[in-house]
Amino acid sequence: MESLDSIRADWLRQIAAAASLDALEQIRVAALGRNGQVTGLLKGLGALAPDERKTRGAAVNQLKNEIEAALSTAKAQLDQAALGQRLAQERIDVTLPVKAESDGRIHPISQTIDELIAIFGEMGFTVAEGPHIEDDFYNFTALNIPPEHPARQEQDTFYLAGPEGSRKVLRTHTSPVQIRTMQAQKPPIRIIVPGRTFRSDHDATHSPMFHQVEGLVIDKHIHMGHLKGCLIEFCRAFFDIDDLPVRFRPSYFPFTEPSAEVDIGCSREGGGLKIGAGADWLEILGSGMVHPKVLANCGVDPAEYQGFAFGMGIERIAMLKYGIPDLRTFYESDLRWLRHYGFAALDVPSLISGAR
Ligand code: PHE
Repeated sequence: MESLDSIRADWLRQIAAAASLDALEQIRVAALGRNGQVTGLLKGLGALAPDERKTRGAAVNQLKNEIEAALSTAKAQLDQAALGQRLAQERIDVTLPVKAESDGRIHPISQTIDELIAIFGEMGFTVAEGPHIEDDFYNFTALNIPPEHPARQEQDTFYLAGPEGSRKVLRTHTSPVQIRTMQAQKPPIRIIVPGRTFRSDHDATHSPMFHQVEGLVIDKHIHMGHLKGCLIEFCRAFFDIDDLPVRFRPSYFPFTEPSAEVDIGCSREGGGLKIGAGADWLEILGSGMVHPKVLANCGVDPAEYQGFAFGMGIERIAMLKYGIPDLRTFYESDLRWLRHYGFAALDVPSLISGAR
């Protein structure tokens, strides 16, 4: 029988000479694979007498271990060499000019969401999300909208059958994410929630699917002054008008108290709408101090924490900022429209570029 020493020497020589990972793998299979030589030696142990099996077994196992160790050392070396070769070969010329004239366009909704994230991100807000299919509890009840409340009819809700006779809703606003966030994390909270919302409504200014952005700030000592400062700052940054007039008009929402709708100054002289100057006002969002009952519904102690919330339609502010006249065109996937109103892929919003 061929001596184990010469078998060992033979495999170690082959392993040392292997020039590629493929070659190494072939050696491994030939030695240790199911029909490999060393595997065969191990199988042959069964036919030996007990005494002989013991000494020969130990020697064959040691041989196997040595071959395994040599294989893994050789593999590491070949991996390293392959990496070194790739690093030497692959070069990226970071000085190449970008291909700015791409045909692709960013949809105005995506662009506006990126602008919102840039502006509120600068103020320390992070982005939160929630499900489109909601429980009645999150969309209404926890927000202090009881079952018989008229807001349930006003919002033209789409209802879905849930499991076991229960009822689900397509969320009618992004406000349920207020509840989910307060349940999931302790204050301080500072989030915005851009996302899809659904109401059974369809005309030139309403679509059954549209987008909102919610804002929620919860901390100790938060008051109406923070709400006003934050939203004035936002309006001016978003429309890129430093002295944009902003007005807070008392309003009502079940989940905020007091509540305010926010208007921005505009002019409608000569039929055209001009934002930023003039005697008219244009409503752009709803806001208020989070109702103590809503805080309590989420396990937040209203005696310790207060906060404000706001919500606005993303299509609406995009239409105003970019002069898009008809809401329905947002969803028609008309390439000519997208080429006209869309944004270049590299036109990433930031405050430095005036949020656009
Ligand atoms: N959820 C309200 C709506 O859809 C907007 C809102 C959000 C108002 C937060 C106040 C506070 O109309």
